[in-house]
Amino acid sequence: MEQTFIMIKPDGVQRGLVGEIISRFEKKGFYLKGLKFITVDQSFAEKHYADLSAKPFFTGLVEYIISGPVVAMIWEGKGVVATGRTIIGATNPAASAPGTIRGDFAIDIGRNVIHGSDSVESARKEIALWFPEGPVNWQNSLHPWIYE
Ligand code: PPS
Repeated sequence: MEQTFIMIKPDGVQRGLVGEIISRFEKKGFYLKGLKFITVDQSFAEKHYADLSAKPFFTGLVEYIISGPVVAMIWEGKGVVATGRTIIGATNPAASAPGTIRGDFAIDIGRNVIHGSDSVESARKEIALWFPEGPVNWQNSLHPWIYE
């Protein structure tokens, strides 16, 4: 089953959106397979965003991510990478549809509340970086009521 990496960014934590965001993924039917509430340092954040190191916003993005604790998660389910991005909404909250997390809770691209892996390959890399110990191994008993 596919997995994705989801991070509630420091603004999402500070604004008390952790429960709301987890609830949206849970209610959809995805399974929580890893959860950490942590503050990361600069070198870790630079590793996570390594692909963006040439972008003009890179320094600000790293400063934002290390500015407070984040909630790092692994979510599992059929098509969870793409559907997770749909639940999150467009990168720029100004373009995010109402009903998405960013559409409902964010205004500025530099304070867009949440990160989600953009591909199965990115998810694999990000999960390996944030959860070197791997996911929690459990099976939700509702499985037959979510999947045919
Ligand atoms: S890009 O430029 O197309 O590679 O960027 P994009 O894929 O849209 O976004 C990648 C991550 O960079 C963040 N981002 C920004 N942060 C601050 N300021 C500006 N201007 C900005 N533009 C993009 C964006 O939120 C993405 O972060 P994550 O954590 O991956 O969602």
